[in-house]
Amino acid sequence: MNMRTRVGIIGAGPAGLLLSLLLSREGIDSVVLENRSREEIESTIRAAVLEQGTVNLITEMGLGERMQREGFVHDGIELRFNGYGHRIDFPALAGRSIMIYPQHEIIKDLVTTRLAEGGPLFFNVKDVHLSDVTSEQPVIHFSHENKPIELHCDFIAGCDGSHSVARNSIPADVQRVFSRSYPFGWLGILIQAPPSSSELIYSYHERGFALISTRSMEIQRMYLQCDPQDDIARWSDEMILEELQMRLTSKDAWKLLTGPIIQKSILGMRSMVVEPMQYGRIFLAGDAAHIVPPTGAKGLNLAVADVRHLARALTAFYNKSQSELLEAYSATCLRRVWRTEYFSWWMTSMLHRFPEDDAFQQHMQLAQLTYTVNSKAAATSLAESYTGLPFDFD
Ligand code: FAD
Ligand code: DHB
Repeated sequence: MNMRTRVGIIGAGPAGLLLSLLLSREGIDSVVLENRSREEIESTIRAAVLEQGTVNLITEMGLGERMQREGFVHDGIELRFNGYGHRIDFPALAGRSIMIYPQHEIIKDLVTTRLAEGGPLFFNVKDVHLSDVTSEQPVIHFSHENKPIELHCDFIAGCDGSHSVARNSIPADVQRVFSRSYPFGWLGILIQAPPSSSELIYSYHERGFALISTRSMEIQRMYLQCDPQDDIARWSDEMILEELQMRLTSKDAWKLLTGPIIQKSILGMRSMVVEPMQYGRIFLAGDAAHIVPPTGAKGLNLAVADVRHLARALTAFYNKSQSELLEAYSATCLRRVWRTEYFSWWMTSMLHRFPEDDAFQQHMQLAQLTYTVNSKAAATSLAESYTGLPFDFD
């Protein structure tokens, strides 16, 4: 079977779904292809920190009703080290805040809207591959319900995450990949307990990094730095809770509020950027083009910034016959991507214990932390990046 659309979008993550909705608001049709089921994408636990710009964009698009009702605005975070907590006040330093609203809830909101608008959005597609990507009519080949389909497009948006088929369709000799892997991972849990803190706590400790986050008044999200090769089965619930309490110990006798752990897993951490983010008629966005370690909570927000640029560029192309923004897409995104890669690497380097670090290096980290919380200039720099740089960043 043959189908035709203007923009073929691979991946129904935040990048792909948001792009499809941004384009439909400009009268530009697209088809979204997703290789997992609706149930799976709507239940995968991932990020939750939304920058102010991400919140504003979702709200301006009329998609923010549930987010505004169920999300939590946070005006700061705590950096904890040497037994003391230090608050970074976002509105005072950067004039903006963040919102906690889980990624899978955003996915639910975007899928509901996309389907209500008539789609098209295909789940459970298989065998996605591309052809004719340097022509003006690239093709996405896939199968759906055992039927082979050819989707003829003007453009292909590779929004298919870190194992991107779109990225792998770009010849290796025109692509540069910059990457860094870290010698640790995060053990993440969901726990049925009241919040132990009204704001997120990032804790530096000699036993390793720990993070207290939240999902609701009843469910909390917490992370521990761990060996990336560690087996989650080795970590009993008691061990996890004991380790969290130890790494967050403070002189004011802060106590972790506990309850049953309802989910636990280990994730690896790496930084990666692909240059350029475009080849022929393929445009990459989100995790397909870049990965950040989660410490700065930037992955989802970077994906949103990319597709906002891509939607603007495609709108200028179709509605004003201008191709300058499309030609500038990769360079425009990469400026903000590299700055955000830096922030994520910086937060990661400052807060984690590296296996090879000696006492001198630990003093360097503590000196950096002390300066960050005591210098208004340094705290402002953290607050600006954490709450989100402007979309149009030079
Ligand atoms: P994705 O969300 O990965 O979406 C890509 C979609 O494409 C997926 O639904 C996938 O199934 C689909 N797909 C892939 N291949 C194909 C194919 N061949 N055909 C069709 N569809 C395909 N960020 C944070 O800031 N904080 C966190 O705590 C955090 N935790 C994370 C935990 C995990 C386990 C992971 C993997 C990521 C986490 N991230 C976190 C990163 C953040 O979730 C991502 O940056 C964000 O999801 C990027 O959105 P995206 O749309 O680019 O990619
Ligand atoms: C969460 C994840 C992060 O990577 C982070 O820096 C803060 C919070 C979270 O899942 O809530």
